[in-house]
Amino acid sequence: MVYQADPSRYNAMEYRRCGASGLKLPAISLGLWHNFGDATLIETSRQLLRHAFDLGITHFDLANNYGPPPGSAESNFGRILREDFLPWRDELIISSKAGYTMWDGPYGDWGSRKYLVASLDQSLKRMGLEYVDIFYHHRPDPDTPLSETMRALDHIVRQGKALYIGLSNYPADRAKEALAILNDLGTPCLIHQPKYSMFERWVEDGLLDLLKQEGVGSIAFSPLAGGQLTDRYLNGIPTDSRAASGSRFLNPEQLTEEKLAKVRQLNKIAAQRGQKLSQMALAWVLRDEKVTSVLIGASKTAQLDDAVGMLNNRHFSAQERADIDAILR
Ligand SMILES: NC(=O)c1ccc[n+]([C@@H]2O[C@H](COP(=O)([O-])OP(=O)(O)OC[C@H]3O[C@@H](n4cnc5c(N)ncnc54)[C@H](OP(=O)(O)O)[C@@H]3O)[C@@H](O)[C@H]2O)c1
Repeated sequence: MVYQADPSRYNAMEYRRCGASGLKLPAISLGLWHNFGDATLIETSRQLLRHAFDLGITHFDLANNYGPPPGSAESNFGRILREDFLPWRDELIISSKAGYTMWDGPYGDWGSRKYLVASLDQSLKRMGLEYVDIFYHHRPDPDTPLSETMRALDHIVRQGKALYIGLSNYPADRAKEALAILNDLGTPCLIHQPKYSMFERWVEDGLLDLLKQEGVGSIAFSPLAGGQLTDRYLNGIPTDSRAASGSRFLNPEQLTEEKLAKVRQLNKIAAQRGQKLSQMALAWVLRDEKVTSVLIGASKTAQLDDAVGMLNNRHFSAQERADIDAILR
């Protein structure tokens, strides 16, 4: 059936300014790391994207290596974009990245100008786009001079192949240097994409303060810790879950009794607040105004409904914050 975007799609979502830029992002964004590669039926991926957009989720996040196999999430997204979303291209913020292993040999990884420029050209071809809205360097490269990587990002913007630049996984000290170089080049960094959830709080030790000071936005990836901060694993490991999928990023060994005990306690607080644990976990990340958006993954459209449902119940009392901190300690 031909897709018609829901006319009420902008009613429920909140759009937050990304740092000191002119761009607003939805409080909830959708990542295509899982469930968009060739291992997933294209119709499943299509339903997720349609449903997300109908809920006001205007930002879709990709990377060169998302799949499996690497590249296939971009190819499948390109197909769905062509078939469903072309009339709405200007209502979408589409991002991609390069920085992890993508092709054989010395030019398909890390942070050289050679890799970044070629990789974005490949990504644009796969997605059938003339430009992406945001292009990220996916991880810091200890060997390439930072100035080369930042110059490559600046060059890409000047070529018109990306509107904005982002950094991902950069620790605060390296990010500070990179932001200074980008400012000097005249292409300020729009956004940083770090991992941030109740279970992973490193950004609180300086990175978020730096970004605020520099007028850079942030988008927190894996805010549900891949599904651990939901009710998914409260009663064992469902066969259709990420932990059962053979993922190297979330395996049954990570779901220790100690961790599950914390999840159960958090789940109780969520229930007292009248929401699901997944909703409380997202609201908790967004409690800090320095976080522009939470970047979730979803395998089912109902998970997107859960995420957006969170927006009605965002406030935490001082007691709730303290109780949550005590559990996470
Ligand atoms: N920059 C980087 O280095 C980097 C690294 C990783 C990810 N990312 C980005 O961040 C995005 C999100 O990462 P993520 O998928 O790890 O995020 P996440 O939101 O922490 O985890 C998503 C998973 O949690 C489960 N889930 C979601 N909502 C649920 C609900 N309401 N109830 C129960 N379970 C629920 C689903 O797993 P099931 O499959 O079990 O249903 C879903 O696939 C990626 O797609 C990517 O764009 C970036």
